[in-house]
Amino acid sequence: MMNTLAVVGLLWGDEGKGKVVDLISKKADVVVRYQGGTNAGHTVYYKGKPLPLHLIPSGIFNKKSKCVIGNGCVIDLRSLYEEILNLKKEGIDVKGRLFISKRAHVTFPYHIEEDKKTEKIKGLGKLGTTSRGVGPTYTDKYARTGIRIADLLYPEGLEALVENNLKTKKVMDDEINIPSILEEYRTIVSELREYFTDTVFFLNNEIDKGKRVLFEGAQGCLLDIDFGTYPYVTSSNPTVGGICTGTGVPSSKIKRVIGVAKAYSTRVGVGPFPTEFDKGFQEQFRENAHEFGATTGRPRSCGWFDAVGIRYACMVNGVSSIAITKIDCLSGIETIKVCIDYKTKEGKQIQSFPSYSNELSKVVPTYEEFKGWEEDIRGINKIEDLPSEARDYLKGLEEILNVDFVIISTGPDRDATIVKEKIW
Ligand code: IMP
Repeated sequence: MMNTLAVVGLLWGDEGKGKVVDLISKKADVVVRYQGGTNAGHTVYYKGKPLPLHLIPSGIFNKKSKCVIGNGCVIDLRSLYEEILNLKKEGIDVKGRLFISKRAHVTFPYHIEEDKKTEKIKGLGKLGTTSRGVGPTYTDKYARTGIRIADLLYPEGLEALVENNLKTKKVMDDEINIPSILEEYRTIVSELREYFTDTVFFLNNEIDKGKRVLFEGAQGCLLDIDFGTYPYVTSSNPTVGGICTGTGVPSSKIKRVIGVAKAYSTRVGVGPFPTEFDKGFQEQFRENAHEFGATTGRPRSCGWFDAVGIRYACMVNGVSSIAITKIDCLSGIETIKVCIDYKTKEGKQIQSFPSYSNELSKVVPTYEEFKGWEEDIRGINKIEDLPSEARDYLKGLEEILNVDFVIISTGPDRDATIVKEKIW
C-alpha cells in the first residue's frame, strides 16, 4: 500500500518544500516533522498571505490533517507557543490535530545564547547558523545532558536537570535565572500539555490502519550532519534515514520519496557552493527571485542547478521523483547553465560528490548550456503552456538526472503548479 510519502530537500534547504507539502497534504491524514527545530522556515501562502511556519508541519493548513512533531525534532517551546497563537489568529485551531513527541528535546533560551556564542569554529571562522539554539540542543541530546518534553511533565526533578545541563556549558558565564525560565516554561507547558504524547505508537498505528502519512523534511541533504558539507551543516539528519530515528517509523514503512529542488541552487550561511553565480548577476537575480531567508531574512547565495549534488542527494534519499520549484525565476536569462560534473583544477574528473568541504570548495564545474526564454511564466499550470525552451530545460534536467519531475512549481501560489501525475 502506497500510503506513506516523504518530501525531502535535495541541496541546502529552502527548496520550496513548504509549498509542495502544502499541496500534497491536502490528501494526507497525517503530516510529520522528524528533525530540526525552529531553524526551518517554510513560508506557505494562506488566503494570499505569506505565513511562515518554523516548527509546525505545513499540513496544519489543511483542516483534516493531523500534525506530528516527532522525537527527532528539538522544540523551542516559546516559539512553538507563539506559532500556535498566530495560527489561531488566522482561524486555524490546532486542538486535537497536533501531536508532539514526549521524547523530543527542549531548546531553552540559554541554548540560543550558546548558539550565538559558539558561532565561530576555531580555525574556520563563522558557520552562519540561524541562532535558534538548534545545534546546542542536539549537542546536549547526544551528551545525554539534555532535557526532554517528558521531563517538563515531572517538575520535581526539573531544576536539578537544568542545573546539570548548564554545568556542562563552558561558554555560558552569565548568571542564568533558572527559576524564572522554569516559571515561564511551566506556564507554556500547562497550555500545551494536551499536545504531548507518544507519537511512536500514534504514527505506526495510523500507518498500519492505512492512513496517508506524509513526512516533511526540513533543511536539505547537503545540510545533513552526516551527508552534508560538514562542518557547514545543521545538527540533524534531514535525509530519509532521519525519518526512522526521528519518528520510530521503520524504513520498510516509507514507500515513496519525493525530492524537492529549485530550478537553480541557493544556500544560506557559510560553506562551499560550486555553482555560485558571479557577484553582479547574483545580486540582480536574488532581488528578482526574492532569495532572502524565511527564518533570518539573510540574503541567500544563488547559483546554477547542480546535477552532481542532486544526483548524490537522490541516491542518499532513494528519491523516486522530483518536485522542481521556482522555474519562473529563470525567465529572461539568455543562457541557462547546468553543472553536469566536477573536475579538479588540473582537469581530472571527480567521480563522486566530495566528502570533504575543502575539496568541494575547489572543484571546477563543467556546464551544459540551455537556451533561455523571455516570457513571464509565473502561474502557468499546464506543461504545454510553457515556452518550448522551458520545456527543453526541464526535459534536459530529467535526462541528466534520470529521474522524472512529478511537480513543477511556477510561482508561490497553490495554483501556480503543474502536477504531472497523481501523487496519492
Ligand atoms: P543551524 O541549523 O541553525 O545550526 O545552522 C546550520 C546551517 O544550516 C547554517 O548554514 C544555516 O544557514 C543552515 N540552515 C539551517 N536551517 C536552514 C533552513 O531551513 N534553510 C536553509 N538553511 C538552513
